Amino acid sequence: MARERVDYSERIPNNVGLAENRRLLRALEEWQPRFLDWWQEMGPLGFQTKDVYLRTAISVDSQGWAHFDYVKMPEYRWGIFLAEPEPDRRIAFGAQRGQPVWPEVPGEYRGVLRRLIVTQGDTEPASVEQQRHLGRTCPSLYDLRNLFQVNVEEGRHLWAMVYLLHAHFGRDGREEAEAMLQRRSGDQDRPRILGAFNEKTPDWLSFFMFTYFTDRDGKYQLASLAESGFDPLSRTCRFMLTEEAHHMFVGETGLGRIVQRTCEVMREHGTDDVRRFGAIDLPTIQKYLNFHYSVSLDLFGSEVSTNAANFYTSGLKGRFEEAKQNDDHALHDARYGVTQLEGDRVVTRDEPALTTLNERLRDDYIADCQRGVDRWNRIIKQAGIDVELRLPHRGFHRAIGSFAEARVSPDGRVIGQAEWDGRHHEWLPVEADERFVQSLMQPVTERGKFVSWIAPPPRGINGQPIDFEYVRQV
Ligand SMILES: [Fe+2]
Ligand SMILES: [Fe+2]
Repeated sequence: MARERVDYSERIPNNVGLAENRRLLRALEEWQPRFLDWWQEMGPLGFQTKDVYLRTAISVDSQGWAHFDYVKMPEYRWGIFLAEPEPDRRIAFGAQRGQPVWPEVPGEYRGVLRRLIVTQGDTEPASVEQQRHLGRTCPSLYDLRNLFQVNVEEGRHLWAMVYLLHAHFGRDGREEAEAMLQRRSGDQDRPRILGAFNEKTPDWLSFFMFTYFTDRDGKYQLASLAESGFDPLSRTCRFMLTEEAHHMFVGETGLGRIVQRTCEVMREHGTDDVRRFGAIDLPTIQKYLNFHYSVSLDLFGSEVSTNAANFYTSGLKGRFEEAKQNDDHALHDARYGVTQLEGDRVVTRDEPALTTLNERLRDDYIADCQRGVDRWNRIIKQAGIDVELRLPHRGFHRAIGSFAEARVSPDGRVIGQAEWDGRHHEWLPVEADERFVQSLMQPVTERGKFVSWIAPPPRGINGQPIDFEYVRQV
């Protein structure tokens, strides 16, 4: 389908007919150098002059949108890609269900939609900033390339949201696009909007946890925005989801390879104490998992939220796989079971389905997270080791929602501050764990070689061999 092919002779590759909209083109051409300044200042440290084997989007159809080649990161063709329009698309939920979708922002939803887009958009540069230092300690060239692929695509996701702001929100949108380059992950005065995006990603165990758990929050947010009645947002998110899948692949397989290596060392030396053999022990993996999972759960917001209800009723943000839900898609009389704190007990209670949409999305997310944990546990079991990794209880280590007011153990008991103080070091990484993990972060940049704490992948990227020169050294 020639129509969807991207014109790379343009300064900003796009499939949105930018050339025909001079004002928008000029505005984005002004934003572009500031984006590049941000990339140089806050993007990957080092390697900016190296050739990296990256995929670039060349069309948006489901087959063959990706083109692989060596690219220097600052020359990556960040562009604007929307999924193909669905002919005669209708709003699938809420009060205006069945009406044609909106090609432009309805005036009454302007502020809310802008906020949704800015909140999503802000996470994209944030994660690049969080991962900025990781190149220096890469476990292999294969992993280094995957890191950079994730980074350039998060940069492109920022472009995707900035395009919507510029194209549909006038002056306010342009100001928000500017502010997106001003905030900094973890900065005291100008932090990124959401908590998890101000945490550090100081080592590769954290990186793989982040791409598994936190990028997966992105998948669920994008999937529910892909249902939006605001069609440009829907089409943007649909294409972003195809890129996001690779990020979660990096997380899931990265953690699987770490677990595999740990099990190999446990068996080889007949001990659980694998730290002295340069592998990451399973209890430490569990602690990192507990941390990243719990901060990612917070990203879904409060269990009960009138905002979430309003987004839904207005047709702005749907449920995960809205079309597959077998109900009236209005949810006026529906109820939904919500697990929450009541005094010092954890109870599940039916609440109005509309106000509990955050929780419902979190439930979909939790089920998805469990699938990866099951796969890692199969690796452990196949090695003949009798240990299981577990997702901690949803109330564990939460800062948002009903559980924020309590201390909850990973197995879901509401506990006192004294027990928490005495035991949290068993459940969350402490400084000694972080120091140990940091001590393992020795860079390996020899083709086909892997650091001591991670197994090689079963296959390379895009059919290339594992010892392919994924990042050129010169
Ligand atoms: Fe993203
Ligand atoms: Fe991502």
